Amino acid sequence: MILVLLGPPGAGKGTQATRLSEVFGLEHLSSGDVLRAERKSGTDLGQRVASYMDAGELVPDEIIIEVILARVLKAAEGSGVLLDGFPRTAAQAQKLDESLEAAGGGVDLVVSLVVPDEPIVARITGRRSCPTCGSVYHIASLPPKAEGVCDKDGTALVQRSDDTEEVVAQRLAAYHAQTEPLEAYYREQGLLAEVDGTQDIDAVFVQSREVVRSRVGKVGS
Ligand code: AP5
Repeated sequence: MILVLLGPPGAGKGTQATRLSEVFGLEHLSSGDVLRAERKSGTDLGQRVASYMDAGELVPDEIIIEVILARVLKAAEGSGVLLDGFPRTAAQAQKLDESLEAAGGGVDLVVSLVVPDEPIVARITGRRSCPTCGSVYHIASLPPKAEGVCDKDGTALVQRSDDTEEVVAQRLAAYHAQTEPLEAYYREQGLLAEVDGTQDIDAVFVQSREVVRSRVGKVGS
């Protein structure tokens, strides 16, 4: 199964991707996580993408396609993949379709987490994550048991460098201009399912899981 999660920054893509990939036995592939890992290890690629990410702009299509596509195709050969953050532009979506088609497959379902701009800033500026295991928290809606410390491994939680109010505004602008049009692209193919992302985290998960079950027919536990 090839499942795509769409939605604005802070919609809950990463939060839901972790749960959905577990239930449906999919590899969770987050383009943002891949880019952040490159930055952290100081590769040429990491240095090239840093300025775009810090400005809240999308990384150019040719770079992201080069970085992600081979991983997508490899994961698609296995038990399937949940794409979180890719594709994000029309060019990326078309390239993904062409490549999957050449391999005899295609996207099975696109779940769009619908969240208006208003709650996004509070969600993003309140996000904290664990640099060791990647667990994501929120200071108000999903706090760790002990303040500032990961429940799973005790590591001090950190805030992403692009999670400031100013950068969020730019990320939202990029989303509306370049990514939101993908909803129409996938709707025309009959692949789009919308989920109300303003509900609490558990309710969004249940609704998303049921949409996947009913549309793709896989039975997650
Ligand atoms: P990326 O890391 O993909 O960031 P994003 O899309 O902006 O998404 P976020 O990770 O901010 O949010 P999310 O939807 O995953 O929300 P989360 O679950 O964490 O990309 C970063 C950058 O990399 C981009 O700006 C770009 O530069 C570059 N990039 C990446 N992919 C690219 C591509 N394909 N092309 C070009 N450039 C690319 O939740 C957020 C917070 O809200 C958390 O604290 C969470 O606990 C809380 N929360 C979640 N759900 C709820 C809920 N239902 N109610 C209340 N709180 C909630």
